[in-house]
Amino acid sequence: MPHAIRIHEHGGPEVLRWEEVPTPAPGPGEALVRHAAVGLNYIDVYFRTGLYKPPGLPCVIGMEGAGTVEAVGPGVTEVAPGDRVAYASAPIGAYAELRTIKADRLVKLPDDIGFETAAAMMLQGMTAEYLLRRTYAVKPGQTILIHAAAGGVGLIMCQWAKQLGATVIGTVGSDAKAEIARAHGCDHPIVYTREDFVARVKEITEGRMLPVVYDSVGRETFLKSLDCLAPLGLLVSFGNASGAVPPFDIGLLAAKGSLFLTRPTLVTYTAKREDLVASAEALFAVVRSGAVKIEVNQRFALKDAAEAHRALEGRRTTGSTILLP
Ligand SMILES: NC(=O)c1ccc[n+]([C@@H]2O[C@H](COP(=O)([O-])OP(=O)(O)OC[C@H]3O[C@@H](n4cnc5c(N)ncnc54)[C@H](OP(=O)(O)O)[C@@H]3O)[C@@H](O)[C@H]2O)c1
Repeated sequence: MPHAIRIHEHGGPEVLRWEEVPTPAPGPGEALVRHAAVGLNYIDVYFRTGLYKPPGLPCVIGMEGAGTVEAVGPGVTEVAPGDRVAYASAPIGAYAELRTIKADRLVKLPDDIGFETAAAMMLQGMTAEYLLRRTYAVKPGQTILIHAAAGGVGLIMCQWAKQLGATVIGTVGSDAKAEIARAHGCDHPIVYTREDFVARVKEITEGRMLPVVYDSVGRETFLKSLDCLAPLGLLVSFGNASGAVPPFDIGLLAAKGSLFLTRPTLVTYTAKREDLVASAEALFAVVRSGAVKIEVNQRFALKDAAEAHRALEGRRTTGSTILLP
């Protein structure tokens, strides 16, 4: 029997259990994928803790993987057995040796993109793509702020924003992370655990402030992120690493200069197959051009997913992390 990491209840990393599960059979429109590598993402923590609700328990968490198609169900046209594929998509179920998934959620991998790179980049990289090119189209010469700049999404965003011609300000939790962010295109790393990032943004922009702030930290940074914006600026609140943003008074958007606020998700931006394929192709192109390097800085056995979660929540990871079945 194949194995998967399942949760039977919400809680700390200890609820992640390595168990035997039945071999799934692909239904109509589905493919059976044998994972070569699985991506670790912060959203996995939200599903483990119960901040985001899975459809039911027990369940297999995880939203990203790369591997080989072993079989397809009736009506599948997008892929065939033997294809090298990757995905970043709902529903959860990636922390498994084998899984079924809708074939229209899979993209075929170019020969020069390995499984580990693919598992490390699909979710974080397509997120960087839609945030920088579609939620707000970053233009050459603009200065932008990216929180958690040395993280998985952060390192990809810093490099991609540089390629788009932006000046990048990034927040990071330590001096070591500041060096990593700087080496990946972050012009002005700010160690926000000791520096006031609003004051630093004011200094760096000589008081002009920013057209856009990308905030995935959530509760700890949300209000201060609004203070980094120029009038009519956009706050892109796209994650909750420090906890969910509490309800707030929209009058603040008026008081701080007719600001815009959005709370986007990759699921919406890749819901149509053509958008998914275009996003993946844009990602493959920046990676193959060398403009964006995918840094797989941590590797864990899939059965040790609990250890990987401890490292991620403990802010001990940089760049991307993969889990190996
Ligand atoms: N909406 C979407 O479409 C979408 C898609 C992908 C990811 N996301 C979000 O993007 C964020 C980054 O995801 P990722 O997988 O690449 O993770 P990551 O950035 O590699 O890890 C999270 C980082 O957040 C920072 N952080 C700040 N306060 C924290 C706290 N109290 N606890 C833990 N970490 C804290 C840490 O960096 P420092 O030590 O440098 O502060 C940590 O390394 C997450 O919030 C995720 O939910 C959203």
